[in-house]
Amino acid sequence: MLCRGPNPNVTLFAPAKLNLFLKVLGKRGDGYHELETLMVSLALYDTLRFHITPSPRLTLSCRDAASCRVGGPVREMPGVGDDNLVLRAARLLQETTGTQYGTHIELFKRIPMAAGLAGGSSDAAATLVGLNRLWNLGYSNNELMSLAARLGSDIPFFLASATAAVCRGRGEIVEPCSIPGPLWFVVARPGTGLSTAEVFRHCRPGSVPWSVDDLVTRLQTGRHSTAQKLFYNSLQEPAEQLNPDVTRLRRAFARQPFLGHQMSGSGTSYFGWCRSRRQATQCAARLAAARLGDVFIVSNRP
Ligand code: C5P
Repeated sequence: MLCRGPNPNVTLFAPAKLNLFLKVLGKRGDGYHELETLMVSLALYDTLRFHITPSPRLTLSCRDAASCRVGGPVREMPGVGDDNLVLRAARLLQETTGTQYGTHIELFKRIPMAAGLAGGSSDAAATLVGLNRLWNLGYSNNELMSLAARLGSDIPFFLASATAAVCRGRGEIVEPCSIPGPLWFVVARPGTGLSTAEVFRHCRPGSVPWSVDDLVTRLQTGRHSTAQKLFYNSLQEPAEQLNPDVTRLRRAFARQPFLGHQMSGSGTSYFGWCRSRRQATQCAARLAAARLGDVFIVSNRP
């Protein structure tokens, strides 16, 4: 997470992620699934601004970042109800600490929502970090990590501020690792989404014989042509059963010369890994012409 600004206002940049590998190992007694996944943090960020207020109220406004250029029309975004992860993170911190401070949070969205890119989880992690600083709470990162795990399985990854990590358990056990880059991706987000809980409900344990560590080793030693063969996502099959847009994207991506391609997280975003930015530009233009969704180019965070 990148930080800027002194109290009483704090600005943070919350990155998106892709899962280059996600293997479901089995269903647990608590209803979650045990998994191992390789998360890579992307140079695509939401911006959050925290303004301290004297009353304990917590409020959130959410805008499409593209509409925030000077003179541009301001487009308010839907989905900022009380169950929004940012407000839930703020409330949890407020209740846990008993602070009397309130805050107005401005959220500028660039990361597509409900897309398997974990924008909401990253925003929630940024909220814990931002309010810890704004309210001067002095919580350690480990203390914030345990609050994060209560809010959602993907959130601890963003608190680790790692550019990449292997995540285990239900996703909350984070082992940072470094992947030499830059890695260039084309991402397509179809017009339809999927419920994470629904996709997990339909998944089966992954049957591939390799582990996340095999992929990490190949990426770390620059063996890209063999690394791409180890890309895997146990959630892609159930996602395709639930949403034909994911299948359409797989077929369209298979026609491009990507090193590898697959769905991210529980979908519905789909990505292709490219040899270079130039190749990414060419593939993105062809995919955009197919009109299967919003298409953009992004690299991992250095
Ligand atoms: O943890 P999070 O709230 O993001 O998870 C959303 C839903 O996805 C959970 O309620 C659960 O149904 C499912 N899930 C799962 N196993 C995981 C992570 C999520 O079954 N490891």
